[in-house]
Amino acid sequence: MHVAGAVALVTGGSAGLGLATARRLAADGARVVVLDVNQPLDATVLSDTVLFAPTDVTDEADVGRAIDLAESRFGPVRLLVNCAGGGGTPGKVLRQSGEPRDLAHFVDKIHLNLVGTYNVIRLAAAAMLRAPAVTGERGVIVNTSSAAAFEGQVGQVAYAAAKGAVNAMTLPLAREFAPHAIRVVAIAPGIFGSERILEAWPEERRAAITADVPHPARLGEPAEFAALVVSVIENAMVNGTCLRLDGALRLR
Ligand SMILES: NC(=O)c1ccc[n+]([C@@H]2O[C@H](COP(=O)([O-])OP(=O)(O)OC[C@H]3O[C@@H](n4cnc5c(N)ncnc54)[C@H](O)[C@@H]3O)[C@@H](O)[C@H]2O)c1
Repeated sequence: MHVAGAVALVTGGSAGLGLATARRLAADGARVVVLDVNQPLDATVLSDTVLFAPTDVTDEADVGRAIDLAESRFGPVRLLVNCAGGGGTPGKVLRQSGEPRDLAHFVDKIHLNLVGTYNVIRLAAAAMLRAPAVTGERGVIVNTSSAAAFEGQVGQVAYAAAKGAVNAMTLPLAREFAPHAIRVVAIAPGIFGSERILEAWPEERRAAITADVPHPARLGEPAEFAALVVSVIENAMVNGTCLRLDGALRLR
């Protein structure tokens, strides 16, 4: 599918990987609606062709309003890039005292990373069905997983479970949507230098993790994530799979 001229929804598009994706899709000629609970960190991303829709991805009415905005201002939605999510504060299942951690710690991460992603998929896919297929394709959905889905670290049970489920959804979604000419792909980043990570992680922590990245031994650039999103959109054979984007990093 061509990016130029397509209408795209980018969740979590106000920061990090989502912001880079919104910027790249717009630069390549897409019209973009950013769905986020926060305003864009860099307001210059907004323009006549990049609109902001205040949206909690777990909220049906919010997502519905964002889709309405995209359709009324730009036309039929063809692209969805789900970036809203995050690991939040890690926490072991058992506290040092031996007491079990509160259930909310697990439920909140599943709700944002898995339920939120699913919620936008179901509503956006229904919107895509309203558009005619162009050159054999109707839409593309790209979800953001994580290396943690494969090598979840201690304290990341909830996040790993949520991202593992994002991966597990990919093939059944791709199969279900195939008759509608909609592809579904997941990207599992290693460690990327979003503003959040650059701010929150001290230099020593960044140096320790990049020492584990075989090549290139550095954090990924959000623009490199965006570049893979564009490749996935433009290559019609990429479907029903999860692509790692991690410089061969395997988390320990
Ligand atoms: N940065 C990394 O190293 C890395 C690695 C692996 C996976 N990921 C995944 O990539 C995605 C983006 O990560 P990032 O580092 O760019 O994060 P980020 O924190 O920089 O950006 C996430 C964005 O999502 C928004 N958001 C949070 N909750 C939301 C909600 N309920 N509804 C709508 N928007 C919401 C935030 O406001 C923010 O703008 C996440 O799913 C994350 O789990 C990131």
